[in-house]
Amino acid sequence: MTSSHRTVLLLLLSSTSAVDSFSLVPTSPSASVISSSLYSTIEAPSTTGTKESPEVVVNGYNGKIVEEEPPVLLSPGIREDDLFECDDSVQYWKDFRSEGNDGNLQRMLQVLQEEANKDNQARAYWASHLLRTGYFTANAVLGTAFSDIHERFNSPRSSESNERNAKAKDLDGSNDSDRSLFSYNAGMFTGLANSDIPTRLLLEAFRVYHQDYRYVKDGLLKFPWDALVRRNGIQWNHRQANPIFALQETARTIVESVAIFSRRNQQKSKGVQFSQPKFGGLYPDYYLNDFHYQTDGWMTSESAATYEASCETLFLGRQDAMQRQTLVPLLQSGQSPESILEVACGTGRFGTFTRDNFPTAEMTYTDLSPFYLEKAQENDKYWISQRGEDAMAEAGSSEMPEPANFVQANAENLPFEDNSFDAVNCVYLFHELPKEAQQNVAKELVRVVKPGGMIVFSDSFQKGDRPNLDSTLGNFSKLNEPHYQNYIDNFLPDLFEGCEIGKKFMSSSTKTLSFVKKSESSEGQDFQ
Ligand SMILES: C[S@@+](CC[C@H](N)C(=O)[O-])C[C@H]1O[C@@H](n2cnc3c(N)ncnc32)[C@H](O)[C@@H]1O
Repeated sequence: MTSSHRTVLLLLLSSTSAVDSFSLVPTSPSASVISSSLYSTIEAPSTTGTKESPEVVVNGYNGKIVEEEPPVLLSPGIREDDLFECDDSVQYWKDFRSEGNDGNLQRMLQVLQEEANKDNQARAYWASHLLRTGYFTANAVLGTAFSDIHERFNSPRSSESNERNAKAKDLDGSNDSDRSLFSYNAGMFTGLANSDIPTRLLLEAFRVYHQDYRYVKDGLLKFPWDALVRRNGIQWNHRQANPIFALQETARTIVESVAIFSRRNQQKSKGVQFSQPKFGGLYPDYYLNDFHYQTDGWMTSESAATYEASCETLFLGRQDAMQRQTLVPLLQSGQSPESILEVACGTGRFGTFTRDNFPTAEMTYTDLSPFYLEKAQENDKYWISQRGEDAMAEAGSSEMPEPANFVQANAENLPFEDNSFDAVNCVYLFHELPKEAQQNVAKELVRVVKPGGMIVFSDSFQKGDRPNLDSTLGNFSKLNEPHYQNYIDNFLPDLFEGCEIGKKFMSSSTKTLSFVKKSESSEGQDFQ
C-alpha cells in the first residue's frame, strides 16, 4: 500500500465515512490496517476507562490462584441498552459488519429485490432514494477529486512530494500510476478499488432507507414530502427536480469540499475562529468555531446555504432518513402535540419533516445562528407552499398552517417559561458542546417541556453502540470537533434528570433516545 493510497483513503473517509460515520481514521496506519480496524470485532465489552492490570489474589482453596477482574466501566451504548426500551434497530446496528465488496453488494441487491416486490409506494420510495444516493455519491466523488487536484497544486506537501517523485523517477525512470497527476492526496479510485468502504457505506444507506420505509409502510411516518418520485409520478414542481438547482448545490458542495480538505490537511488551528466583538459578545466561545472546518462556522448566510448539500454529501444521502427516526417515538406514543420546539434547528430541514407529520402543531425553532435561522425560515415557507394545504387536509383541517416561530437563542438558556411545549426535539447538537454545556442544555430541554411531554434527542452514535467501530469513532474529533471525544463517552441519560427513560433507536451513525418529563406526582421516583 503506497502513501498515496493511504492519503486517498483518508480523504475519502474524511469525505464520506469519516464524517458520515463520525469516525475518521487515524492518519498513520496503512489502508489495510484502516479497514481491519474499522471492521474488527471487539470480543470483550468496550470500556470507557483504561483497564487496570488484574489483581492476583489467593482464594484459599487448594492454593489456587484466581485472577480477579477489575470492575469494567461499560460504554454508554451498552449501559443504555438495559435502561431503554430498545427498538430492533439497536441490535441490528450493534451486529452490523461489512462483508467485503461481494457480500455488501449481495446484501444491497437482496434489499432491493425485497423492496421491489412490494408495491408501487415501495418502488416510488426506492426510486427516489436511489436517485438521492446516486446524486450525493456523485457529489462526494467530485468534491474529493477537486480537492485532490487542489491539494496537488497548492499544498506545500505536494511540492515536496513532487520533488520526491521526480527524484525517484530520475533514479528508476519509472512513471507508475503513483506518480501521475493524482499521485498526491489522490489516486482515490485506485485506493477505493482496494477497499470495501464505498460498498459498506452504500449498504448502510440502503439499510437506513429500509428502516425508514418500514415506518412509512406501517403508516407511522408520512411518505417523505420532498421525495422526487411518488406513487403518482415525478414531483416536477419540487425545486430538487430542477437541474439548475441541483447543479448549483453540486457546485457549492465542490467549492466547500476543497476548502474543508485544505483546512483539514493543514490541520488549521482548532477553536475560536471569529472574534466576539464582531458579534456583540452574544455567543459562548465554544460556538465561534469552524466545526468540521466548515467555511465561516455558523456565522454567514453562505455557510447556511451550503450546509444541507454538504452534509448530505458526507452522508451519501441518508441524513434525512436517519434524522426522521427522531419523529418515531412521538408518533408511536399516539400523542398529538399542540406545540413542538426544535432546539438548534440549523437550516430547519429536519423541521419540515416534523411539520409534515404534525401539521397542526405550533412549531417553534431556535438556533444561535441568525443566518441558519433565516435559512430555516425560508425552508418553512417552502414547505408551506408545497405541502401546507395538503398536509392540513390530511389532518382534517381546511386551514393553512401558520408559519413557524423562529427564535435566536442559546440552547443553554432558552427564553421560554417552564413547561411551555408538548414536545421538544434536539438533533445533532450535543456532539458539538463542551460537557458543561451539554448538561445545561439538557436541563433547559427538561425545564421547557410540559410534564408528560416528550424530549427526543438524536445525535452521533457513541461508544458501545457499534462496538466494532469503537476504536476509530473518536478520530472524528480530528476534523475540528473538539468536544466529540468527550461526547462519545458521555452517558446521556444522566443529563436528563426529572425524566423517565423512553425508547432507543439506531440508524447507521445516528442514535435516537426519548425521555418523558415526569409529572410532579411521579417526581422522586428516579430511574436509577
Ligand atoms: C450540527 S448543526 C445541526 C443542525 C440541525 N439540528 C441539523 O441536524 O441539521 C448544529 C447546530 O447547532 C447550533 N448550535 C450550536 N451550539 C448552540 C447553542 N449553544 N445554542 C443554540 N444553538 C447552537 C448551530 O448554530 C447549528 O445550527
